[in-house]
Amino acid sequence: MNKVITSLLSLGVACSAALAANGAISAVKVSDKLDGISAESPLWAKAKYTTVTLYPQTAVHMNDKKANEANAADKAKNAQVAALYNGKTLAINVKWADGTKDVQGAYSSDTYSDGFALQFAGATKKSGPLPYIGMGSDGRPVVVHLQKATASVYEPNGNKDVSTQINRNQTNLFGKDLADYDAKVASLAKTDYERSFVGEGFRSLTEIKDGSSASAAAMVYSSNGWSGTVSRPLKDAYVNSSGTVPVAIAVWDGSKMGRNGLKNLSSWVAVNLEGMKPDAKIVGEIAEEAKGDAAKGKEALAANGCAGCHQVTAADAPSFMAPSLQNVGGYSTVAYLRESILKPSAVVVPGYNRNAHSNTPWYTIEKGKRVSTMTDYSFLDKNTVNDIVAYLKTLKAEVE
Ligand code: HEC
Repeated sequence: MNKVITSLLSLGVACSAALAANGAISAVKVSDKLDGISAESPLWAKAKYTTVTLYPQTAVHMNDKKANEANAADKAKNAQVAALYNGKTLAINVKWADGTKDVQGAYSSDTYSDGFALQFAGATKKSGPLPYIGMGSDGRPVVVHLQKATASVYEPNGNKDVSTQINRNQTNLFGKDLADYDAKVASLAKTDYERSFVGEGFRSLTEIKDGSSASAAAMVYSSNGWSGTVSRPLKDAYVNSSGTVPVAIAVWDGSKMGRNGLKNLSSWVAVNLEGMKPDAKIVGEIAEEAKGDAAKGKEALAANGCAGCHQVTAADAPSFMAPSLQNVGGYSTVAYLRESILKPSAVVVPGYNRNAHSNTPWYTIEKGKRVSTMTDYSFLDKNTVNDIVAYLKTLKAEVE
């Protein structure tokens, strides 16, 4: 399969139809300025839209009964995604349906907003497999650009540190004084929530606040859906893109209490810069198809006790021992699934809730390293692993 893709790629533009079948996006080259491009810019008329499916991230069972109920029957969403680049800057536009516009108020912490994020694979010294899609992994960083629909964020110190905002209920002001206070807040407030993070595994997501990530993200609501854009340099301190830029897309639905573990997420998608040589290794990893037999894999999964720890399908009971696998086929590459079976500790999936389930840890710490509590299945023969991976690839919700 990899060989076929590589030779198709050498045909250049002619292969864009074939690539579209694998969900790859063709970034169209323009000579216009793209920094801070809006979702409504006429330049998007030049772009080519590709459908990308975003699966409910159900790896973690939340401690919030209401949120779990609201998301119990979540389906996958299709987004329309396009990219433009001008040699220096890459801009990506994502359009997705959402029947309700949920904007987070300035003072309420019990409301949830719609939002989206684009994740880029960070530059690494050694070339290796793509990072874990959730938040990177040791030695395989990701950069995340996040935007939320926010009414206004009052930031007295201007450093995007919302935690220091003053709650109007704690001002002891009334009547005209409170109205004056609100007016002052409005004049100082920002409606732009945008943040960038860099992550290299479990609990490592760190906000970039020193201005070293020159990105811009914006979102606009119209006719039952959002259009979000991110523009960022092709090369900076965090990413070093060449012909193919691996990107993952996440969207949050405020009406479903979307937050950390509750979002819709794509697998890695290849954005190929038109006119440049695609990176065959990245394209091949993203497009790799499972070689095994899914029906045999289902049997092997039962025979090897995987369901003793994991919830496998939506019909099975939730488990706190391990992440739910019910959508893992939707947002994981074949390489990642294979690695999860053969080297469980290569990536330790975040989401284990120490406080709620202290007796079912997902990892232990040995010599400062997180070691997965998952059984090491490297004893399985190659065909069995391929079969299990083929079955895991079928585990995903249908599109709404
Ligand atoms: C003893 C409990 C246990 C058993 C048995 C087990 N797992 Fe796991 N598995 C875990 C834990 C805990 C994690 C999360 C920590 C980590 O990333 O390794 C995990 C993670 C995974 C992941 C990554 C999930 C994600 O959301 O990225 C996959 C895939 C997976 N397991 C597949 C399997 C398969 C297939 C089997 C059977 C061949 C299996 N597991 C057996 C405990 C288990």
